[in-house]
Amino acid sequence: STVHAHRSALIHSLGDPAKLGIENSYQYFDDGLLVIEDGRIAAVGEAEKLLPGLPAAAQVTEHKDSLLCPGFIDTHIHYPQTGMIAAYGEQLLDWLNNYTFPTEQHFQDKEHAAGVADIFLTELLRNGTTTALVFGTVHPESVDAFFEAAEQRDLRMIAGKVMMDRNAPDYLTDTPESSYKESKALIERWHGKGRLHYAVTPRFAPTSTGEQLAVAGQLLGEYPDLYMHTHLSENKKEIEWVKELFPERSGYLDVYDHYELLGERSVLAHGVHLSDCECERLAETDSAIAFCPTSNLFLGSGLFNLPKMEAHNIKVGLGTDVGAGTSFSILQTLNEAYKLMQLQQEKLNPFKSLYLATLGGAQALKLDDKIGNFSIGKEADFVVLDYNATPLMSYRMAQAKELEERLFVLMTLGDDRTISETFAMGRSVHQR
Ligand code: GUN
Ligand code: FE
Repeated sequence: STVHAHRSALIHSLGDPAKLGIENSYQYFDDGLLVIEDGRIAAVGEAEKLLPGLPAAAQVTEHKDSLLCPGFIDTHIHYPQTGMIAAYGEQLLDWLNNYTFPTEQHFQDKEHAAGVADIFLTELLRNGTTTALVFGTVHPESVDAFFEAAEQRDLRMIAGKVMMDRNAPDYLTDTPESSYKESKALIERWHGKGRLHYAVTPRFAPTSTGEQLAVAGQLLGEYPDLYMHTHLSENKKEIEWVKELFPERSGYLDVYDHYELLGERSVLAHGVHLSDCECERLAETDSAIAFCPTSNLFLGSGLFNLPKMEAHNIKVGLGTDVGAGTSFSILQTLNEAYKLMQLQQEKLNPFKSLYLATLGGAQALKLDDKIGNFSIGKEADFVVLDYNATPLMSYRMAQAKELEERLFVLMTLGDDRTISETFAMGRSVHQR
């Protein structure tokens, strides 16, 4: 077995600051060592204490003026929308019709899909994101192409084929029967293969009939540990439309609840406009919300209420929601999250941000037994953040000596330039 150690300032989250208190929510070593054996965390602690115990053959890499932390986790993103990021001028429903659907049409072509999947994964790693929950398109080819690319890089990824049988162009719709068959074939091929997981992915309530949502629920019952990935209560017009389409249901969330789509591996993007009853039901079913600040601001969807989710004990991860989101960077996503909360007279503490970007995301995805922090035995997916990434970052860091301030500056000024190296299973997968 091979032992590789990384010496650097080092931080990781131990839990939600809202539950543990800020001081107990993280572990930090100014001169730390992360010891990796066969792609997994073997030890973490102070370099001086751990170095003498390393085997003679162990390699030690030193990272100067850097902060090492777990890889970022993006709990909601659309890989087929990589090429339409920053398509401007519309809110959700017109944005979908004018930009999104025409873009997604091209993913019936496997070669096109493979090209975009490669660009997408490169971009994730450039930004320090090592795990994501990913939308494909309605075409099964899009998901095969994505999983092939993720498997090649040995990344922990979750994805699924979109199910959509109404209110979309003919070229993008399936049927309850075809979506069942195609999803099932993809599940058999990819779910649980290496580091890959499948997510049953009805796009959102308006683009599925009740019949198709029932099929989604059926699939979830047929295989263990499948994910469910969709959108929820993003935009006010969307919510009104759902009420018209499903008048027999008590609200948007109740549509998904009725078809048995909620549960501990269900991730619903947005949840910007939720009633107290809906929050209670999300908590009861242990479903998670993906908080997507850059998207919510870009599409003018509204201001997500994070404290309300905390009060209801709802699991929350961060999502970039590219292409409605405007950045692949989880650091930039935290920058916007902070501002969005300021607009609501709320503060986002940098240790809470660290939690959301790493362990909180892992918990939202039920992967916290495998990733999210540096607990012994977890997979060594981590990033190296560079305090000297730019002249401005360097100058600003010269003024900021306290850890909390340094973290906040990283999360506000930081972006892809801040990520000097990304590792997956202990292997370097991106160098700036
Ligand atoms: N709701 C349904 N589809 C989409 C999508 O592709 N992006 C966003 N942001 N919201 C959606
Ligand atoms: Fe989305």
